[in-house]
Amino acid sequence: MSAPSNSFQPDSTDLDRLHSAVKREKADLQPGREPVPMLVIFLGMIVAVIAGGQLGVMTGGYSFNTSNPFNFTAAPDPRPGGGAGAGAADPFQAAMKKGASGYAVCGGCHQGNGMGIPGQFPPLAGSEWVTGGTERLVRVVQHGLVGAITVKGQGYNTPGGMQPFGAAMSSGDLANVLTYIRNSWGNEATMITKEMVEKVRSDEKRAQQWTEADLAPFADKNVPGDVPAGPGATAAPAAK
Ligand code: HEC
Repeated sequence: MSAPSNSFQPDSTDLDRLHSAVKREKADLQPGREPVPMLVIFLGMIVAVIAGGQLGVMTGGYSFNTSNPFNFTAAPDPRPGGGAGAGAADPFQAAMKKGASGYAVCGGCHQGNGMGIPGQFPPLAGSEWVTGGTERLVRVVQHGLVGAITVKGQGYNTPGGMQPFGAAMSSGDLANVLTYIRNSWGNEATMITKEMVEKVRSDEKRAQQWTEADLAPFADKNVPGDVPAGPGATAAPAAK
């Protein structure tokens, strides 16, 4: 029994031809999703660029300035006495910044973290010599220190002691470094100003390094002087 001769009998070649033709067709477009002509997109871009530029000119804000493109100005410093340019207006912050770089001359021995080296260089972190009376601290760094001393309950007696820094550093530099060590690594104490260092300098001419015994009268004394506001400003009242 064979198929009627007039019925449609596609062979495999016809199938391939038919399907490839169908596959070439794109899927039916959804209504409203027809492609946008290139020209319309292009015109839209031109409008956007021109309008954007015009908007910039009209609002006066934007200029092609890479350093500060939106003309931002720093938010005002919320701290009391902060105000414009905290560095200039806040003497404590300014001193801390300068003191941190000045501390490089001390860090070789007392270490960057203020912990010193056991048995050799005493710590400045938590040291009563640092946060105690400013009279003693200024003198130690001004003229140096030698002989047996006790710091945080530990004895030190490094041969040669500590050299004087008074000749090598200006009063301002010295004050900044001292303010820095008094307010770093958990230390908190009053600022030491240039005027305070100068006061100690003008009071005495000393040729040798200090010893702990020589400094005893100054241990708890503070150099009189105005202490500008800053963290710890009330920690040690200026007295004498
Ligand atoms: C070359 C090493 C060396 C350098 C640099 C040095 N010191 Fe000292 N410092 C010592 C030694 C050693 C002692 C202990 C002296 C002693 O045993 O009598 C000491 C003691 C001190 C003390 C008293 C003890 C204490 O630990 O609190 C202070 C404060 C101090 N130094 C601050 C400074 C400051 C600030 C500087 C930088 C301006 C500085 N030192 C630079 C070696 C150094």
